[in-house]
Amino acid sequence: MAIFPLRIRDLRYQPNGREVLAGIDLDLGDEGITLILGPNGAGKSVLLRAICGLVQPSSGRMLWGVEQGARPERGVMMVFQKPMMLRASVLHNVALGLKPFGLPRREREARAWAMLERVGLADRAGDSAPRLSGGEQQRLALARAWLTRPRLLLLDEPTASLDPSASAEVERIVREIRTDGTRILMVTHNLGQAMRLGDDIVFMSAGRVCEHTPTQRFFARPQSEAARLFIQGELPWRMRL
Ligand SMILES: Nc1ncnc2c1ncn2[C@@H]1O[C@H](COP(=O)(O)OP(=O)(O)OP(=O)(O)O)[C@@H](O)[C@H]1O
Ligand SMILES: [Mg+2]
Repeated sequence: MAIFPLRIRDLRYQPNGREVLAGIDLDLGDEGITLILGPNGAGKSVLLRAICGLVQPSSGRMLWGVEQGARPERGVMMVFQKPMMLRASVLHNVALGLKPFGLPRREREARAWAMLERVGLADRAGDSAPRLSGGEQQRLALARAWLTRPRLLLLDEPTASLDPSASAEVERIVREIRTDGTRILMVTHNLGQAMRLGDDIVFMSAGRVCEHTPTQRFFARPQSEAARLFIQGELPWRMRL
């Protein structure tokens, strides 16, 4: 089943009456890298979690594919800012991604090896995964997700706390994953990164999507006042619109 376009309509999440998502409207086509920007507390991470089914919205609709049906069981993966690592080897942690697919162990490990080559971690395959650096763990997590050939990959600040060269490496991998045919929706606080990677930008504030614009236009002529202030570094913390 095709999972795009994804149409999100008036999606709300109100735990204990608090408006965390205050009516999200968003359309995602089947190609490219979409970057989500917005101040702390805007609801970016909660939106990603809702899209991958980890958060149950209070109301609203999420319609997948031309059939406009429910989220497919497979094909949507998320990589967190601090990826989870089992106390086991790098290879085992990557091969784990294929567990639900019922492949024999040999096959899982062969594919995991190939993926480790692609993210530049093949020489660390036998090392303990929790001992990897932050940047290496992020690459491991990308490899683990990529291995399953997701249709949609959700990335929540994958380069937060990485040094410039580790960030550049993650950006390279994200581009390759896209070239391989995966749709990417990624949160970042790094405006330079958003310019480099994003085909389009979703700007969120106070639980809403304020605008969704092609990247060049977003930075040259943001449509919303909130985005204009944000780009200038002047958006007050958790500004309510
Ligand atoms: N279950 C919950 N109950 C109450 N408040 C919640 C819950 N989940 C999230 N929130 C609140 O919703 C707001 C948005 O959270 P979210 O993590 O999505 O922000 P964000 O845009 O990702 O911010 P940051 O840039 O800091 O990562 C926060 O104020 C958070 O505390
Ligand atoms: Mg967040």
